[in-house]
Amino acid sequence: MITIAVANQKGGEGKTTTSLNLAMGLARRNLKTLLIDMDPQANSTGIFLNPETVEKDLAHLFQNSANIKDIITPAYNEHLWVAPSSMRLAEMETVSVNSVEAPYILRDSLAGLKDFDFVIIDCPPSLSIFTVNSLVAANFVLIPLQAEKFSMDGIMGLQQTISSIKKRINPDLEILGALITQLKPQTLLTKTILPVLTKYFRIFEHTISDGVAIGESHLAKKSVFDYNRSSRQSQEYEGFIEEVLNELKK
Ligand SMILES: Nc1ncnc2c1ncn2[C@@H]1O[C@H](COP(=O)(O)OP(=O)(O)OP(=O)(O)O)[C@@H](O)[C@H]1O
Ligand SMILES: [Mg+2]
Repeated sequence: MITIAVANQKGGEGKTTTSLNLAMGLARRNLKTLLIDMDPQANSTGIFLNPETVEKDLAHLFQNSANIKDIITPAYNEHLWVAPSSMRLAEMETVSVNSVEAPYILRDSLAGLKDFDFVIIDCPPSLSIFTVNSLVAANFVLIPLQAEKFSMDGIMGLQQTISSIKKRINPDLEILGALITQLKPQTLLTKTILPVLTKYFRIFEHTISDGVAIGESHLAKKSVFDYNRSSRQSQEYEGFIEEVLNELKK
C-alpha cells in the first residue's frame, strides 16, 4: 500500500484537482485506490459522493466514534473508494489538538486497511493538524503548485513542516515531486520561476496546463478522464500518472 499526501498550504494550487484525478487514474488502471478527503471544504468528496447521503465522515474518525472501515464509501469506479469529509471536520481541529495521539489518528486508522494499492490524501490549504496527520501517514508527498510568485513564497514553510515531520515522526517520508498546475502559455514569469523551483524540488516533467476542461469536469462531478477523454488536461494527467508509476518503480 503506497500512501501519497497531496499537500500545499497555499490555497487554490491544484491539490483537489490533482488528488481526484490521480485517484481515478489509478483506479482506471485497476489499482484499488482510496481517496481521503482531509479538507473540511469537502471538494473531492462532492465529486464522487452525494454529501447528503454520507452518514459517517472523517469527523467521526477524529472524534473516535468510527473507524476508517465504517467511513470509506465506494465511488463510481469499482476500484475507487472515498473517505469523505464535511464541515464538521473543521470542528475536530481544536478537539484533536489537545490529545497526544492527535498527529497519529490517520496513520493508526490506515494500519487496518492493507488491501489497497494506493491511498491518496487531499490535504487542506493550511499546515493544520489534518495536514500533519496526512504527512505522518504518508510514504510520499506530492506538491501541486502554480509557476507564480506567491506560490513560491509559501514553499519554505511547507518544506520546513515536511522536514520536521520526517525528523521527528516519519523518517521514511519522501517528497515525490512538485507538479506544475494551471500552467499558462510560456510567459516570462514561467521561464523565470521554473528554474528556481527545480532548486527546491524534483519537478515532474509533465505539467498541467490551464484550461476549461478542469472547471467543467468539477461542475459535472467527474474526473477529467470521464468528462472529456480527449481534452489536453486529460492527456496531461495521464502522462503525469505514468510518470508517478515509473518513479515509484525505481
Ligand atoms: N489545470 C487547470 N486549469 C484550469 N483551472 C484549474 C486547473 N487546475 C485547477 N483549476 C481550478 O483552480 C481552482 C483551484 O483548484 P483546486 O481546488 O484543485 O486547488 P486546491 O489546492 O485544492 O484548493 P484549496 O486550497 O482551496 O483546497 C479550482 O477552481 C479549479 O477548478
Ligand atoms: Mg482543495
